[in-house]
Amino acid sequence: MTTPCIIRGLGHCVPETRLTNADLERMVDTNDEWITSRTGIKERRIAAKGETTVSLSHQAALRALADAGMQAEELTHILVATFTADSYIPSAACMLADRLGIKGRTAMDISAACSGFLFALETARAFVSLHPQAKILVTATDVVSSRVDYSDRSICVLFGDGAGAAIVTGEAPGDHPGRARLLDVLLATDGSAHDLLTVKGGGSGAPYKPGETVRRDFFVEMNGREVYKYAVRAMTGICQTMMAKHGVAKEQVDVFIPHQANLRIIDAVGARLDMPAERIFTNVQKYGNTSAASVIIALSEAVESGFIKDTNLVLLSTFGGGFTYGSCLLRF
Ligand code: UT7
Repeated sequence: MTTPCIIRGLGHCVPETRLTNADLERMVDTNDEWITSRTGIKERRIAAKGETTVSLSHQAALRALADAGMQAEELTHILVATFTADSYIPSAACMLADRLGIKGRTAMDISAACSGFLFALETARAFVSLHPQAKILVTATDVVSSRVDYSDRSICVLFGDGAGAAIVTGEAPGDHPGRARLLDVLLATDGSAHDLLTVKGGGSGAPYKPGETVRRDFFVEMNGREVYKYAVRAMTGICQTMMAKHGVAKEQVDVFIPHQANLRIIDAVGARLDMPAERIFTNVQKYGNTSAASVIIALSEAVESGFIKDTNLVLLSTFGGGFTYGSCLLRF
């Protein structure tokens, strides 16, 4: 029997600064009609100077801790899913622990691009099954703008910055039953598609020498068409596998939250799963694709806004570079 696993609290944080389609029209050869019809995105949030993966994670973490009715000192593990840590060394998780004023815990980053939240959530679930008393902070945060070339119109319209956080524990005390029961997480990867969505520059395979100016490979590069097709197939498939594994019919899924990459992908996955549009939560219109943070920000907002109600069965799905993909079933 698997150890019960609970999401005790949720929180999110996005930068104040907005980058609208009208702003982008002044920066590159694009227009609101193209961006809206291809992606559904109207604006995104961009980190200001001094706002980083660690600072946004910190704010999201404080909100999730408050939602869980917990203090930072109670945390046993800190996981940060990101591809845009403030630095290669130290990890974002070590820096986040320091911001939270705690030492001596397990703290580590997890790299799974836009699927990072579910990879971190499953890692948390594994820690809980090893240590049933564990109290785990999972944050998923990306400052994608730090790796976007704002002269590349095919990329710069798609992404935004943000952070989400969840507190994951074993069975919660009766006086604080938590937000949701984590029923299952399924993860998958396909490394044969590694070249279709990349950020290579600065890695050991594409290092920089002192004084060298950054090349194009420092920024996100993507074959949009191929990513689109694979993302639709992968998210649909892994959701179908999850539903079949648990004998869940589509009518029983109260809320579906897919990776907020763009509305066309969301609509295509929704149509293939035959999910009514009114059960699909979206916020990509106002944040763009926030990479690892996308699904956890959406989950946190869906709870905060009342879109998700008590007893709801919620299905999440992610997709990202690697390729990485996953699904998750939650009972509120
Ligand atoms: O976490 C996963 C992240 N990945 C994604 O979400 C991306 C998935 N892919 C997509 O959503 C779509 O492929 C895009 C939205 C990225 C692009 O849509 P598309 O219909 O596949 O367009 P395309 O890349 O085939 O480009 C069509 C045209 C090209 O012009 P030509 O060659 O036909 O003259 C592009 O140069 O659109 C042009 N274009 C733009 N035009 C105006 C590309 N970007 C822009 C732009 N504004 N921002």
